[in-house]
Amino acid sequence: MSLSEERIISVIGSGLIGRSWAMVFLSGGYRVKIYDNQSGQALKAAQEVRKQLDELQQAHMLRGDSSAAEQFSLLSSHDDLAQALEGAFFVQECVFEELEAKRSVFQEVESHVGESVILSSSTSCLLPSHIFSRVQNKTRCIVSHPVNPPYYVRLVELVPHPETVPVVMESTHALMTRVGQSPARLRKEVDGFALNRVQYAVIAESWRLVKEGIISVQDIDLVMTEGLGMRYAFIGPMETMHLNAPEEAPAGKGLGDYLQRYKDGMRKVLSSFGPVPEFSGEEAKAITQEMCELIPNDQQHLSTRRERRDQLLMGLSKLKK
Ligand SMILES: NC(=O)c1ccc[n+]([C@@H]2O[C@H](COP(=O)([O-])OP(=O)(O)OC[C@H]3O[C@@H](n4cnc5c(N)ncnc54)[C@H](O)[C@@H]3O)[C@@H](O)[C@H]2O)c1
Ligand SMILES: *[C@@H]1O[C@H](CO)[C@@H](O)[C@H](O)[C@H]1NC(C)=O
Ligand SMILES: *[C@@H]1O[C@H](CO)[C@@H](O)[C@H](O)[C@H]1NC(C)=O
Repeated sequence: MSLSEERIISVIGSGLIGRSWAMVFLSGGYRVKIYDNQSGQALKAAQEVRKQLDELQQAHMLRGDSSAAEQFSLLSSHDDLAQALEGAFFVQECVFEELEAKRSVFQEVESHVGESVILSSSTSCLLPSHIFSRVQNKTRCIVSHPVNPPYYVRLVELVPHPETVPVVMESTHALMTRVGQSPARLRKEVDGFALNRVQYAVIAESWRLVKEGIISVQDIDLVMTEGLGMRYAFIGPMETMHLNAPEEAPAGKGLGDYLQRYKDGMRKVLSSFGPVPEFSGEEAKAITQEMCELIPNDQQHLSTRRERRDQLLMGLSKLKK
């Protein structure tokens, strides 16, 4: 038995994200105990994980070195919190995105675990200093924000509480790397973390361009999928600038040259950006209608498109490896 097989991670909350985390940790050879406060829910989640692991194995997309059956044998489901936390060195919370729920979960979790156990939250937008307000030892607290679906989209944003000690950030980073995720460290907390701040900047400008009648909903999405997105799966905005300048540039190569050539142009365009959109009223109605004409918003159409998304992401994550 390898060392990691002796180590236990508790997943608190067995919804969409709890199940995904369980699968990611299982693929790294960790024992996973999954808990939900709704009785029977953790068991249902475990059965769902079993099904998904088998399907992934059949599709040759299973992560990790061991079989679906071996990975599943490391999973247990619990209706009792104390039992679910017993022996864990790391706790990943995945309950509803409600401040009060997370606060009380962490308060209770802390009363059941030893002092060196790391307390980690999956929150998408609540700040660590709010979530962990009732934890006594905040030095061990961190946000590990996954991207849906975490099995194919490997980024995890690690966001410290102001009191989090460096060793907790480093241990979490090492754990996430070991299970095959791609952790990015934030040095301090900020609303939206990094991913959503960038995402909202993209959404806001796309929205303004459609609202102002400059481009259609369909075509602004093409700008991303057939343009920027082609690069961004492999090189980020910083490297894009660094690589973009011509080889023999007088000001030297790379980013420095890019800035010299393009900074005025960038600033001119950026200063023409409009205010934060309302995302409501007439403009929202019109844009929603245009979107629904492309993809009707009934359950069936949306599920089909979500399945397509997950299939494509699966292929892309394979390609990136
Ligand atoms: N869904 C996403 O795309 C996504 C992406 C990144 C992060 N997140 C974050 O992950 C967290 C979970 O999201 P989700 O989509 O899995 O939600 P979900 O509603 O699918 O699952 C939440 C689960 O937590 C359980 N639960 C609620 N309160 C609990 C408690 N006090 N103790 C134990 N279990 C409890 C519920 O019974 C449910 O099974 C949220 O903080 C969310 O913001 C979600
Ligand atoms: C589980 O906890 C949530 C808060 O996170 C609460 O709203 C819900 O009522 C609880 N469910 C049960 C069955 O206790
Ligand atoms: C607080 O947590 C840190 C990090 O896990 C741990 O090293 C330390 O011993 C804890 N302190 C107390 C007083 O429990």
